[in-house]
Amino acid sequence: MKVIWNSEIVDRSEVTIDPEDRGYQFGDGIYEVIRAYNKEFFCLDEHLDRFFSSAEKIEMHVPYTKNELKHLANRLLSETGVNTGNLYLQLTRGVASPRNHMYPDASVLPMLTGTFTETERDQQMLDKGIHTIVTEDIRWLKCDIKMISLLGNIMVKHEAHKKNAYEAILHRDGIVTECSAANVAIVKNGVIHTHPDGNLILPGITKLVWKRCAERLGIPVVEEPFSLDELYNADEIFCSSTTMEVMPVKKLDNKVFFSETAGSVTRKLQEAYKAEIEQCCGKLPVH
Ligand SMILES: Cc1ncc(COP(=O)(O)O)c(C=O)c1O
Repeated sequence: MKVIWNSEIVDRSEVTIDPEDRGYQFGDGIYEVIRAYNKEFFCLDEHLDRFFSSAEKIEMHVPYTKNELKHLANRLLSETGVNTGNLYLQLTRGVASPRNHMYPDASVLPMLTGTFTETERDQQMLDKGIHTIVTEDIRWLKCDIKMISLLGNIMVKHEAHKKNAYEAILHRDGIVTECSAANVAIVKNGVIHTHPDGNLILPGITKLVWKRCAERLGIPVVEEPFSLDELYNADEIFCSSTTMEVMPVKKLDNKVFFSETAGSVTRKLQEAYKAEIEQCCGKLPVH
């Protein structure tokens, strides 16, 4: 399997990770997950812009230009032969010995790795929707940084898993923020409500795309904090992420939101989102 390792595409077996890499020791690094369909990246520019923005927020220098990263990503795409899948791109602050919390000086080069795995679109899941639970947002206060220290996200995802749910919808003091690995929105009386960008959520690229779709479809979007009460009493709930796209929430704790088909606003957004993918990456297989 071919992977990105710094500025090269190498065989996975050639990669060595130093035990004193700061990503490994401190979770000191950033990442992106970028989807490709039909051998074409979707929203590559937007993802790389967020990658640079995350790096800037933790004062980490990215020793590549955006074009160099695009070139590496496209080389990996062609060398792996993946058709539809996820590129995972990670940059850590590099190897500094002995271990020290302080940022190392500029002579320490950040370490770039990237893997690509084939992952089909799950049309059945997109039709059926997912089960979710509500739990407290236990994460730190800089959730806008797409950083690799994901323990808080992992713990709430595990809590969902233990309750046979796929995702955890998070709240801080009764205000709904996002999910363990996705943004979340509700629909009430034809209006979409979602938490505004800022330090409490990740500014999702999928959210960016579905907001554009909503605008085109004339569906109003309100980006203001909303409560758990509003969540439970919503007409529709959907999550969004690069890997899930626009995913209907079928069940929230014990409340079922639909039996066969998701609500009409969610379905319209799903279709519009699919059309955006097809415009960029070509026709998707019919299921
Ligand atoms: C915590 C969190 N929020 C939101 C998202 C959605 O972001 P995007 O649409 O860019 O994938 C993700 C994606 O992994 C995430 O981990």
